[in-house]
Amino acid sequence: MKATQILAPTRMMPMIVEGLRATGQLHCLWEQADPDAFLREKAKDVGAIATGAHIRIDGAYMAQFPNLKVVANFGVGYDTVDAAWAGKHGIIVTNTPDVLTEEVADTAMGLLIMTQRELPQSERWLRSGQWEKTGPYPLTRNTLRGKIIGILALGRIGKAIAKRCEAFGLTIVYHGRNKQADVPYRYFSSLVEMAAHVDILMSVAPGGAETKHVINAEVLSALGPMGVVINIGRGSVIDETALIHALQNKIIFAAGLDVFEHEPHVPQALIACENTVLLPHVGSASIHTRNQMGQLVVDNILAYLDGKPPLTPVAETPFSGW
Ligand code: 8YV
Repeated sequence: MKATQILAPTRMMPMIVEGLRATGQLHCLWEQADPDAFLREKAKDVGAIATGAHIRIDGAYMAQFPNLKVVANFGVGYDTVDAAWAGKHGIIVTNTPDVLTEEVADTAMGLLIMTQRELPQSERWLRSGQWEKTGPYPLTRNTLRGKIIGILALGRIGKAIAKRCEAFGLTIVYHGRNKQADVPYRYFSSLVEMAAHVDILMSVAPGGAETKHVINAEVLSALGPMGVVINIGRGSVIDETALIHALQNKIIFAAGLDVFEHEPHVPQALIACENTVLLPHVGSASIHTRNQMGQLVVDNILAYLDGKPPLTPVAETPFSGW
């Protein structure tokens, strides 16, 4: 018999909770007096899990639910869900692609310009009264004029960033697992070689074992003393210790980061660097976009309950029937 109960293990946006609660089948684990007892008693009835970035849904977690059929992840990145395990066990994982692409690309461009032209630093100059006291903010040594940007992972978001970069007059190159047909930008099969060729390294890469620390000391030193690294993808892609060392020792010029290795913890050493621009993972964080992402979480679970195909299954868990 089809398991029709929905579990939300950690807090989610109110609109997701309301949308799922309307089914009368939602159980929010944080509302349970004894979550462990609840899981023991209800696990076999759980057919769907709604989840976000704050909990790891690995094989051992999913194995608690013998009739689990769908894990709906809030976010396009689903590195906190073991989708390969899910795929092997007939569980569909869904994410929230497309609806956040333009928002994240906008944030990436904002972060790029802020970092390259030192806009937060110059704003601090004004706010602290330095403009009146000392004079104009020093001319920035970096600029976007005549620069080459290397995009790490030219997926949907990477392409939306590339489109914006074209409008800004930047030269675009990219690195990823494969060279893509019908892409007008130069491809580098080696990340280090691309880093040596570009002025700006823009990382849009997803998290997970495959991309962990691919931006390491070698890549940073290839980027060089006027080089800038921007990360809008996942913090785990950059070796944060190597990055701090590169920033402190002027091995690279600056970094603009929206994501970090151990969020929400941001190392004090990064905060102390004057040549960093740091955002608290706000890439997709507008009410407009987060609502659209939330609606996709709800709609993927409703599709399962209605016996319809999921809207946005991930590549590792292609749909072939519930
Ligand atoms: C999410 C993100 O909002 O989509 C992603 O992969 O990183 C963000 O847009 C985040 O996962 C929510 O906590």
